[in-house]
Amino acid sequence: MNHPIDQATGQVTDQASSQASSQKQADEIRQNVRESYSQVAEASNEGNSCGTGSSCCGVSDDAAINALVSTRLGYSKDDLENVPEGADMGLGCGNPRAIASIRSGETILDLGSGGGFDCFLAATETGESGQVIGIDMTPTMISKARDNAVKGKYDHVEFRLGEIEHMPVANDTVDVIISNCVINLSPDKKQVFSEAFRVLKAGGRLAISDVVASMELPDEIRDDLALYSGCMAGASQISELQTILEECGFEKINIAPKDESKDFIKDWAPGRGVEEYVLSATIEAVKPGGCCGASCC
Ligand SMILES: C[S@@+](CC[C@H](N)C(=O)[O-])C[C@H]1O[C@@H](n2cnc3c(N)ncnc32)[C@H](O)[C@@H]1O
Repeated sequence: MNHPIDQATGQVTDQASSQASSQKQADEIRQNVRESYSQVAEASNEGNSCGTGSSCCGVSDDAAINALVSTRLGYSKDDLENVPEGADMGLGCGNPRAIASIRSGETILDLGSGGGFDCFLAATETGESGQVIGIDMTPTMISKARDNAVKGKYDHVEFRLGEIEHMPVANDTVDVIISNCVINLSPDKKQVFSEAFRVLKAGGRLAISDVVASMELPDEIRDDLALYSGCMAGASQISELQTILEECGFEKINIAPKDESKDFIKDWAPGRGVEEYVLSATIEAVKPGGCCGASCC
């Protein structure tokens, strides 16, 4: 990267050096998140409970526990039975497919696809005439999801290694972006939503479950890296997300926090009181320019 140089002093400018330091900080956060989810994927491959400390990680060697976690998030018994064993890692904070209204033949993109759980459920709805792409930056998660796709014979689902801030996806190619408990983990949410806008077709939609903050987080939560990887400390306030989505060009924005989610969020970091500050929400928005419904297509 070229840093602007002050012509008089020959030094890197203050603005450039503060940009470089915030990029370094963002990279450290991403590295920490990647290591945490690598451990989660490895622990689940070995059939161990997750050992990452405070976390939204619900991965367990007991499928019944993961099923209980996912049922609390709104998945049905059928959802749980119709995906390859091990795809449901109990890592979500909602059920984005429930708000996605996926149609046959559509192209779906899942940001931070983990073991592929939501991708496989979406693939049943798109049918083989559609396509589902999962992106994840953790190599062990991608391998796990690819193994699951082979086990379940999902020919129209693919998993791509990459960061959601730099999506390995072409412009204007996606009908629906889903994501479950991932964008809070990004140190650059504006870049994520700007990329989402780029890859969506005109009229394409966001159907996201994520953790949001209902008020400013105190420093002891905000600065705790384990709480960051555990999907709590990186949560943005609803008003901030609304502004980012508007600035990226989205319309029909609807961010709906779920008060009842405090019941499970309090178990993510017992005794820390995080449920007073963060909760699960659905985030919906549309990229303008699509057709307005069946009658005008
Ligand atoms: C809490 S887990 C959720 C997994 C999955 N969505 C689910 O519900 O089971 C977060 C996932 O997002 C991935 N992830 C986190 N930050 C990411 C980023 N900046 N780019 C791509 N993947 C990311 C992690 O590797 C991990 O697999």
